Amino acid sequence: MIILHHIDDVRNALESYRKQNKTIGLVPTMGALHEGHLSLIRRCREENDIAVVSVFVNPTQFNNKQDLATYPRNLEKDAKLLDWADIDIVFAPQPEDVYTAEDMAHPFAFDFHGLDEVMEGKQRPGHFNGVVQIVSKLFEIVEPSRAYFGMKDFQQVAVIRLMVREMNFHVEIIPCPIVREESGLARSSRNQLLTKEQKEQASNIYRILRESLSHLPNCSPAQLTDWTVTQINAQDGLEVEYYEIVDGDTLQKISSWDDSSYVMGCVTVYCGQVRLIDNIRLK
Ligand code: PAF
Repeated sequence: MIILHHIDDVRNALESYRKQNKTIGLVPTMGALHEGHLSLIRRCREENDIAVVSVFVNPTQFNNKQDLATYPRNLEKDAKLLDWADIDIVFAPQPEDVYTAEDMAHPFAFDFHGLDEVMEGKQRPGHFNGVVQIVSKLFEIVEPSRAYFGMKDFQQVAVIRLMVREMNFHVEIIPCPIVREESGLARSSRNQLLTKEQKEQASNIYRILRESLSHLPNCSPAQLTDWTVTQINAQDGLEVEYYEIVDGDTLQKISSWDDSSYVMGCVTVYCGQVRLIDNIRLK
């Protein structure tokens, strides 16, 4: 495994593989790797000749300075895990290696056709511009045949798919299922910031999402939303930022179960200062 920090080194390292028509898989990450990432990474390793993982805490997708400052970072530990996972290339740049001063000064603009006006996009203005900015750069540098993303970031997967269509990238997007702790808590780098007690509190999020399935036949989407938010907020230490029941493709809210055949419940909850997201397929 090699760890590279500069764009040209990554391009040079991949050039000969590309000439040999080898398939290249990419897992973009912000590091602090956990079992959720590792499931993507193992799949990338299995399905491609060359496996590349990027480790980069992308400043342009954080709209909260405190969140960026406290985001866990540990390249040494991540590199060990990636070596065990038999990854070929780790791309671990610094912001100045991928962004010009101009990039950092002016927000990247992308037309999301409304996908950014709901849920994470609404709560974190500019977040998805930063995601598209870095992922499009990574796709241009690595030119992967396949790229792997976790379904915990459900809206991110929809945004990346739109980006691929709009920017004509020749890459297959592989969405991978959410990996959960035994308690049901969705694996996340942010879980490292939770105390033991908070982890127990946070495990109620998925328990309640699952329980909501049994209420679904007797409730409208609006009633199920109210029930879910009330249940989560009743738990010690948890506060819902939003819970939305949406069409899984357009991410627009539904008002009747007949509005869509693919329905997702997407939630963001604060556990203390830690912002956690999760989702469940409702239909
Ligand atoms: O999902 C993430 O960790 C990030 O949003 C990504 C895709 C690596 C872009 O920085």
